[in-house]
Amino acid sequence: MEKLKIAGGYPLRGTVKISGAKNSAVALIPATILADSPVTIEGLPDISDVNTLQSLLEEIGGKVTLEDGDMRVDPSQMISMPLPNGKVKKLRASYYLMGAMLGRFKKAVIGLPGGCHLGPRPIDQHIKGFEALGAEVTNEQGAIYLRAEELRGARIYLDVVSVGATINIMLAAVRAKGRTIIENAAKEPEIIDVATLLSNMGAKIKGAGTDVIRIDGVEELHGCRHTIIPDRIEAGTFMILGAAAGNGVLIDNVIPLHLESLIAKLREMGVPIEASEEKVFIGRSENLKAVDIKTLVYPGFPTDLQQPFTTLLTKAEGSAVVTDTIYSARFKHIDELRRMNANIKVEGRSAIVNGPVQLQGAKVKASDLRAGAALVVAGLMAEGVTEVTGLEHIDRGYSNLVEKLEGLGATIWREKMSEEEMEQMKSS
Ligand code: EPU
Repeated sequence: MEKLKIAGGYPLRGTVKISGAKNSAVALIPATILADSPVTIEGLPDISDVNTLQSLLEEIGGKVTLEDGDMRVDPSQMISMPLPNGKVKKLRASYYLMGAMLGRFKKAVIGLPGGCHLGPRPIDQHIKGFEALGAEVTNEQGAIYLRAEELRGARIYLDVVSVGATINIMLAAVRAKGRTIIENAAKEPEIIDVATLLSNMGAKIKGAGTDVIRIDGVEELHGCRHTIIPDRIEAGTFMILGAAAGNGVLIDNVIPLHLESLIAKLREMGVPIEASEEKVFIGRSENLKAVDIKTLVYPGFPTDLQQPFTTLLTKAEGSAVVTDTIYSARFKHIDELRRMNANIKVEGRSAIVNGPVQLQGAKVKASDLRAGAALVVAGLMAEGVTEVTGLEHIDRGYSNLVEKLEGLGATIWREKMSEEEMEQMKSS
């Protein structure tokens, strides 16, 4: 096991290239199950979630190659093997195997998904969708069993706007008989990306990116090539980093339209930003003002950027209220930021950040993926050396983070943890 060490306080400068979107990748890879000939996805990020999904596809008989971010999946020999536990526990998005396998084989057995602990994360809306399409769904000993004689299109109204349920229902519906209408659908760019791949495979989908999606089922889907969209959360993390510890950071391969809410908030704080078609430049940011944020579904402020943004707020003058309306327990980074001298208190679903303070290097633990990003940003802002453990969370979702930060001039390195440190971490 490794930990990350960061010598903070040195301004970052230069260009960083953003990788393919993690939250698209984890849906695009299972979507390949629905085709009957090879699908190639170009530009996947170098993250452990992609490797876990590759081995899950291999477990069910897929022939998969992955080279320089391009994955070729031959799904022709796949079978509906049960995937009760094991690797599916490593990531939340393994729930997309349910929709894709149900769509192709009309049956699936998938262990309940794992992923970051951010409070309760039910999948009732996914199940409501599968049942509406004609599947029988049961939960037996920690695994979800799905079976259908046939899948028939249906009108499904989501009670909660859910990215996962929207994509999962699309996956199950593209090969169902007749028309499916998803109402109150989520509108995230990753949903459009998955719909684009499925359309290239021969699916008939209209309205992805709006709150009503119409799908006309087809009998077969074929192989194709697809290039993934850039990761808006990785891009947003680097934008926040540019404002927190930068002296001129250019973010390349980004779609600024996907980050309008973040750009608006950064500007409100006083961060100099220039956005063009595929690039965003963050100038040196001084005398920042505190701003309140409330996370909302897309195109509102993304919950996945709430944690790194909270770190940035420690540098701003005044008191800011950060409210997470999506997850009830996405504040585990706060105790760690406090160890680094931040003045933050949590009240219910809000954190109140008082600034400015100078963060100090400390030993901290990443409890989830974006908490990890928040602590790396903090480490780069802090005086002295910061040690971040819990790297397995960061490796799930940030592609070559250390190399990218080194490219911006950061002093950051990975170090092996001693036996004693590993014991301490397990018991904490
Ligand atoms: N929800 C339900 N029932 C459901 C589904 C969701 O009550 O059946 C609730 C959730 O508990 C949550 C809200 O609805 O409070 C939104 O959940 P959603 O289903 O949209 O989240 P998700 O699909 O599980 C994806 C991303 C998350 C991101 C959220 C919100 C993936 C693999 N994950 O999760 O990303 O926070 O959308 O934008 O796409 C991350 O990247 O760090 C991450 C956690």
